[in-house]
Amino acid sequence: MAIDPTRTVQWCDDAVVLIDQTALPDVERFVTCATVQRVADAISTLEVRGAPAIGVTGAMGVALAGVCSTAAAPAEVLAELETAAELLVATRPTAVNLRWGCEQVVRAAGEVADAGGDRDAVVAEAVRMACWLAEDDVARCRAIGQAGSQLFDGCSDVVTHCNAGALATVAYGTALGVVRAARDRNPDLHVWVDETRPVLQGARLTSYELGRDGITNTVIADGVAASLMRAGRIGAAVVGADRIAANGDVANKIGTYSLAVAAHHHGVPFYVAAPLSTVDALTAAGADIVIEERDPDEVRNYRGQPVTPAGAAVHNPAFDVTPAELVTGIVTEVGVLHAPYGPALAAALSGAR
Ligand code: MRU
Repeated sequence: MAIDPTRTVQWCDDAVVLIDQTALPDVERFVTCATVQRVADAISTLEVRGAPAIGVTGAMGVALAGVCSTAAAPAEVLAELETAAELLVATRPTAVNLRWGCEQVVRAAGEVADAGGDRDAVVAEAVRMACWLAEDDVARCRAIGQAGSQLFDGCSDVVTHCNAGALATVAYGTALGVVRAARDRNPDLHVWVDETRPVLQGARLTSYELGRDGITNTVIADGVAASLMRAGRIGAAVVGADRIAANGDVANKIGTYSLAVAAHHHGVPFYVAAPLSTVDALTAAGADIVIEERDPDEVRNYRGQPVTPAGAAVHNPAFDVTPAELVTGIVTEVGVLHAPYGPALAAALSGAR
């Protein structure tokens, strides 16, 4: 099967194929993961990143466990899927989509086993569900884009943080999905792109992705947005999310909180765009969200080049939490939700079931 270059993650010939995001923007290449461990490594090392993208990748990783299984009994295959899901979920603790995607595949395969399906039927269902989740992600992102398409009417400049685009999903993006849909209404829309230290998802990935789509953008160092807001040069902010707590607190890439504080101070609307699979109804508030702490060397070095004194003490949280009161609206596939977010999210989730 030919690789689809528009897909960040895809199932191809019984393997998981990913755009290698560590190589972008210099090199556009795909990596093929034929074992569960290789998928786990790709998630840990950020070859694939972004909450919805790792959700689908995790789901496909679980399906891969089925394809690789030599077990004859459906219950044994199912146990291998569960073990794979545990391994994959542990790779990145904050993005709830990863757990969600893995669980969807285990659940679907389990239903087939419970109904008396044989081992091949269990594996086939795991693969079917993982591939369906990829299509579902594309559809959700397009719906998010449509839901948010009018938010930037009359606004010439928006700011975004990290990469919540096609590269962070299967194909279209959440925050950048909104930007794409808004640009169709407002061709002059310009995007300020936070570089997003330490891994530079903004500078490397968002700028690349927007440029490829012909969307005008300017990369800024992370500390620049507040003064642009003060100068009236940013009309709105839009970011993605790794996990939204039941009360509307939002975990997203480190630096999102400071952007939200600056937006609030300057009266700039601050939107979060995410599928409902990013909402964790079991987590009451942002304080309960586990924040991934990453390798200090990500801060000490950039692509192998040291940028601090050797062995400098480093604190490297991958995410922060923006309290719900700083969020103007949460753009989901079922519409733009507003405070109070507790009931709004609960209603959206119950309608989505
Ligand atoms: O560490 P990353 O690059 O996986 O972090 C990604 C983000 O924080 C994104 O903003 C988030 O996952 C939303 S992606 C649609």
